[in-house]
Amino acid sequence: MRPPLFPALTIFLVPIFGTAQSREYPSYYDPCRPFPCGGINFPFPFSDAATFGTGRFDCGLPRFQVSCDAAGRPVLDLPGTPYQVRALYLDRQDLAVTVVNAQLIKDLAAGSCESLTNLTVPSSGVKIDNLSLPPQWRFNLTFFKCAAGIALPRELTDSAVVNASCGDAELYLWMNRSSDQSIGADNSYGGETPDGCRLVEVPVSDVLGLRSSGFMNKSNGERWRFVLDLMGKGFRLVWSAIPECDRCQLRGGRCGFDASLGKVICFGGSRK
Ligand SMILES: *[C@@H]1O[C@H](CO)[C@@H](O)[C@H](O)[C@H]1NC(C)=O
Ligand SMILES: *[C@@H]1O[C@H](CO)[C@@H](O)[C@H](O)[C@H]1NC(C)=O
Ligand SMILES: *[C@@H]1O[C@H](CO)[C@@H](O)[C@H](O)[C@H]1NC(C)=O
Ligand SMILES: *[C@@H]1O[C@H](CO)[C@@H](O)[C@H](O)[C@H]1NC(C)=O
Ligand SMILES: *[C@@H]1O[C@H](CO)[C@@H](O)[C@H](O)[C@H]1NC(C)=O
Ligand SMILES: *[C@@H]1O[C@H](CO)[C@@H](O)[C@H](O)[C@H]1NC(C)=O
Repeated sequence: MRPPLFPALTIFLVPIFGTAQSREYPSYYDPCRPFPCGGINFPFPFSDAATFGTGRFDCGLPRFQVSCDAAGRPVLDLPGTPYQVRALYLDRQDLAVTVVNAQLIKDLAAGSCESLTNLTVPSSGVKIDNLSLPPQWRFNLTFFKCAAGIALPRELTDSAVVNASCGDAELYLWMNRSSDQSIGADNSYGGETPDGCRLVEVPVSDVLGLRSSGFMNKSNGERWRFVLDLMGKGFRLVWSAIPECDRCQLRGGRCGFDASLGKVICFGGSRK
């Protein structure tokens, strides 16, 4: 009488444990399909900001919320600063989005520094569960927003390459014009922040155009337009591959997030 019990148990247990993960939340597979907006399909770790946090599970990670604006363009909701998403790259070696701070450009073009006030720029190189600038990102525009009426600070005398007035302040684009600045040099500002000014770094895709002699030959107004166009090309934010999710997708499942456990989970998927 001893042996029959084991085969019976095995048959009974395997299906339960074998499919527990897919049976438990079958209703999440369809809702967690990639979120479409503006001709881009956003899969995990992105998800629709409108449904995030509304159910037992989420379709994306907390810092990857996308909404569709009134014009049908995808917007990434970083705390304090919405960024338009222009492109999505899903190559495993190159997970990235190209984002543009359209509101900042619009404000600056209209002579306002409003959106510089609480500007959120993801820092460079912190990318576990986060969108961030690529490591050691060098291509920042360095602005000084200085109180109106103060004379051009001495620190900026030879290195303010553009000025623009914005509301009650004066905005200067700083560039290190020392002759030993090569293309590969770090573009960060190494000096003291002048009194009455605030330093703001704005990432761009590159700064080569600013280093050409053609740029310095332009008038201040033309340089300013060039800088706004450069900002309009956006910059990349990257994130790390998520191994739990890769395994889930290999099984044909869709990844999701269990906020109460802080874990990536898998919806559906056949096992072979
Ligand atoms: C910036 O943030 C502060 C503090 O959170 C807030 O009081 C202020 O209204 C914000 N300003 C803008 C322009 O969003
Ligand atoms: C560029 O700006 C980002 C965001 O503020 C910062 O993390 C990064 O270190 C800056 N890079 C340089 C070279 O200053
Ligand atoms: C992600 O970014 C947030 C906000 O900038 C920060 O508080 C958090 O520590 C970051 N998480 C990781 C894992 O780096
Ligand atoms: C400008 O670049 C030079 C050479 O790279 C560096 O020594 C200097 O500190 C930089 N100036 C500022 C204000 O960052
Ligand atoms: C910029 O101006 C300099 C001196 O006026 C001139 O030699 C140079 O050819 C100009 N460069 C361009 C790209 O127009
Ligand atoms: C800003 O640029 C304009 C036009 O080039 C110039 O006339 C003005 O003096 C500049 N203002 C400051 C404070 O540098």
